[in-house]
Amino acid sequence: MNEARHSKHWWLTVVGLVPVILAATLLESGGTQPPARIPSEVAWTDETLALANSGDPMRGLILSRRCERCHGAEGFSSTPAIPNLAAIDKLTMWKQLQDFRSGKRKSALMEPIAAVLTLRQSADLAAYYALVPNTPDPLDSRSFPERISNPSMARIAVPLITLGDGQRGIPPCQACHGPVGYVKGAPSLATQNGLYILNQLNALSGWSRANDINIRMRSIAGQLTLEEKQALSDYYGSGYAYQPPAE
Ligand code: HEC
Ligand code: HEC
Repeated sequence: MNEARHSKHWWLTVVGLVPVILAATLLESGGTQPPARIPSEVAWTDETLALANSGDPMRGLILSRRCERCHGAEGFSSTPAIPNLAAIDKLTMWKQLQDFRSGKRKSALMEPIAAVLTLRQSADLAAYYALVPNTPDPLDSRSFPERISNPSMARIAVPLITLGDGQRGIPPCQACHGPVGYVKGAPSLATQNGLYILNQLNALSGWSRANDINIRMRSIAGQLTLEEKQALSDYYGSGYAYQPPAE
């Protein structure tokens, strides 16, 4: 008899603990804060850098046939929402493919494509696309350069690209995306499609894209107004930042 009452009491205690455990779990994850998670499984260790740079461009060329349908025959897509891959920085290609594969960067189209690539194949594709020239060619079907929607946008874009905005802690885009400097994994934007850039800036500022290391790009995009995002996308997408290669 005593034993039965004891076991009933035991269950009540467990049931009573449930809200406490739930509350503790919520507190543990920071309450209303997003739960702590690593943004990317890629870290720029010597080993990763060696692997990402080890590709064979000829193998990459053959594999690139899988990508042409969307990214275009020479890495210039005819759809402005799909990124151009011509001359893309090797580390960017490598990291983004890894992030699609691990689900750290979401894309219904790219996740299954990246999922079937081996590490070797990712490196081969990076080696190939890095060599494809990004010289604008008006005779094919590429969507780049786009016609700028409002020329006065350059007045907003250029100071942000060349100087940034110290007041808001925004460094100049060109210090990381070139031509002045490049940080690891930051692509050149000089021949990127404007609509793709705009979509990425919106995804980064809204945290639906959250695969950038140290929240670097999310915090910059989060500081930009809608008009500034549009101006930067228009400026890059119209080819104004493109500089022909020196002979
Ligand atoms: C069915 C269409 C489709 C195919 C095929 C495709 N992609 Fe993509 N890819 C996309 C779209 C759409 C995006 C942009 C995703 C987004 O908006 O975040 C993208 C994004 C990317 C990015 C990110 C670029 C950047 O600057 O961050 C890389 C790298 C990439 N694709 C590589 C490849 C490679 C390599 C292949 C071939 C093995 C390939 N893609 C095949 C549709 C495709
Ligand atoms: C401190 C360095 C830094 C600065 C400054 C910076 N970026 Fe970035 N940006 C990065 C890095 C690194 C990435 C790659 C993030 C990742 O790993 O996914 C990135 C990614 C991006 C992307 C996505 C590119 C793609 O192909 O998917 C866009 C668009 C972008 N940045 C625009 C800008 C603009 C516009 C500015 C200036 C207002 C800017 N960035 C300033 C470092 C920087």
